[in-house]
Amino acid sequence: MYLKNHFSRIGFILAAAGSAVGLGNIWKFPYVTGEYGGGAFVLVYLLAILFIGLTVFLAEAVIGQNAQADVATSFVKTSKSKNKNWKFAGFILFSGLIILSFYSVVLGWILSYVFTSFGTLPSDAKTAGAAFETLISKDIAAQIAYHTIVAGSVIFIVLKGIKEGIERINLILMPLLGLILLGLLIYSFTLDSFSTAVSFMFSPDWSKIDGNALLAALGQAFFTLSLGVGTIMTYSASLPKNVNFVKSSIMVAIVDTAIAITAGLIIFSFLFEAGAQSSAGPGLVFISLPVIFSGWGFLGQVIAISFFVALVFAGITSAVSMIEPSLKFFIDRFNFTRRKATVICGSTFYLLGIVALLSMTSAYSESLTFFGKNAFDLMDFMTSSVMMPLAAILTCVFLGYFVDKELLQRIFTAHVSNLVFNIWYFLIKFIVPIAIITLFLNKLGIL
Ligand code: PHE
Repeated sequence: MYLKNHFSRIGFILAAAGSAVGLGNIWKFPYVTGEYGGGAFVLVYLLAILFIGLTVFLAEAVIGQNAQADVATSFVKTSKSKNKNWKFAGFILFSGLIILSFYSVVLGWILSYVFTSFGTLPSDAKTAGAAFETLISKDIAAQIAYHTIVAGSVIFIVLKGIKEGIERINLILMPLLGLILLGLLIYSFTLDSFSTAVSFMFSPDWSKIDGNALLAALGQAFFTLSLGVGTIMTYSASLPKNVNFVKSSIMVAIVDTAIAITAGLIIFSFLFEAGAQSSAGPGLVFISLPVIFSGWGFLGQVIAISFFVALVFAGITSAVSMIEPSLKFFIDRFNFTRRKATVICGSTFYLLGIVALLSMTSAYSESLTFFGKNAFDLMDFMTSSVMMPLAAILTCVFLGYFVDKELLQRIFTAHVSNLVFNIWYFLIKFIVPIAIITLFLNKLGIL
């Protein structure tokens, strides 16, 4: 029954774009761009999306769409040898559950800012910083409550399956997200600082670009396209085989990039209008922006609510895509019902999320610190610095060396020219693995 449950073409594009567009675009992209000085970083990031992100996206899509199965089975089915051991590549889907644990906590913080926006936002940076600090280090009950609302919504959506749950929620939330961002963009056009934001984002300052910036751009390209956790592979497994996956993948990458750039323009216009710093780091959205909104009176309140609601919408559609690979795995391989799979995976990430949030509080941080990192940071590190790069390297090496080239050529050339296939194949076989291995070793401090 589940296998018959397929996306429509537009449903897939929206769902994959919904997965891709998340906190990574609206929260992380602007602050990382700010930290690396703007234009040059944006350019490097665009190149990373085009040559590396899109290449790996196509890799996951081709495996998923061709095998029409869960991640573990897809590797076995696609391999030249059909060796059953390829099922161990399925380990990558657990990253999704781990990321979801702390992603849900962060989404909970954002939800709390939606509610705060209806009341009074802090009017200076000191109060704003203290309010955020209190939320994450002291307010356990509130954090658990918000995390519960987010986790409950994710579970509610995925229980309904691909078509009725995931496709439908994306069909509703993605256009709404687009509208809110368009509204905010139009508002930022009216600000004098808009042109400063444009030149900040598009005139390169090469002096800020070093090895770290290159790696940050590559890591961001991966995270924002939802690669390395089996999400794109799993969504593509529900994409009917006759749909042009190359075109659909390009569409997703374009939407994702357009939204990151739009979010950057909006946020930098706001920051420059208020004379604030562009390099505020992770606190940008939680500390700098609320202060700016509060200075704009009633209009500021409307903008604050719209902005945080947009973040929640973007985050929820990403969150559901993090759990789906695990659900499909249990449903397809172990014949679990969707309900049973959801209960198991849902309670796992929910409880891990509570561990993550407790590990940031002053009361529990000491007992929840392992290898010098609190549980929250450890989960982040294990996924983004270890498991996701490993998954990406594995996917490239798998396609480049353990899958029949003719098979891939046949699938690709049904949609694109042989030249395009050859470029993709060259990138996946040589360039991308080298780039990611460099990133990986560097993040682990080996290079
Ligand atoms: N792409 C999402 C974002 O930018 C995050 C994500 C990572 C979603 C991995 C699914 C899988 O926020």
